[in-house]
Amino acid sequence: MSDNTNTGVLTGALATDRKDAWWLGPLLTAIGLGGFGVYSTIRAFANANYEWGPYLSPFYSPLITIPSLNGLVGFKVSPAFLILWAPAGFRATCYYYRKAYYRAFFQHPTACAVNEIHGKAYGGETSFPFILQNIHRYFMYVAVLFIGILWYDAISAFFFPAADGTKHFGIGVGSLIMVVNVLLLGSYTFGCHSLRHLVGGKMDCFSCTSFGKAQHKTWLGVTWFNNRHMLFAWCSLFSVGFTDFYVWLCATGRINDYRFF
Ligand code: FES
Repeated sequence: MSDNTNTGVLTGALATDRKDAWWLGPLLTAIGLGGFGVYSTIRAFANANYEWGPYLSPFYSPLITIPSLNGLVGFKVSPAFLILWAPAGFRATCYYYRKAYYRAFFQHPTACAVNEIHGKAYGGETSFPFILQNIHRYFMYVAVLFIGILWYDAISAFFFPAADGTKHFGIGVGSLIMVVNVLLLGSYTFGCHSLRHLVGGKMDCFSCTSFGKAQHKTWLGVTWFNNRHMLFAWCSLFSVGFTDFYVWLCATGRINDYRFF
């Protein structure tokens, strides 16, 4: 840290007057997001052990396999890559995550009232490449569809295949994990800032429109999740990774799924 005593303005990379642990948040974010990035990339490339019994890893859902594609590109394409662009794009352009990874990875800026490393002031998201972040609202539409698909998977996780090809209702630890996962993912998705704007954030007067009352209620509901957006962003990130990990544990025979009945 250096100090320009003539002006009293601190200069130099990461110079600041702050006495608190301003570096802790960006550091934890880098560890969390970096760890998830490495794990999910390995699992997406693995192209194996993503199904067990009625459980399907969320990294591979919906499961799309196009055998002719493999012949076209000359290698076996992991089905994860056919769908992961949607949740990855949704998270990468999320308003909360943008703040988190600009600070953790780009140091742009690392924290409030802390000098930038680059010496170049943050220029906002009005020019390339950051202007592309505005695509977030479109990822949001796709993310809402994915919640429906993951609910289908979570309900299917209660119907265990029998040897004769039929399916029987049952509850395993994995069934519950998949339900919790989709609940957390839904809580994250339905707290999206773009969705909040769509359902009512753009309105000046709820009582002036025909469905104003219903719209106001919806907006209040989305606002409840929106106020906890960071919490659900992290909980759902952890749960989606853990759900995949649990399926992998079962599929590789490392554990036996406990069945309540
Ligand atoms: Fe975070 Fe839309 S702002 S998901």
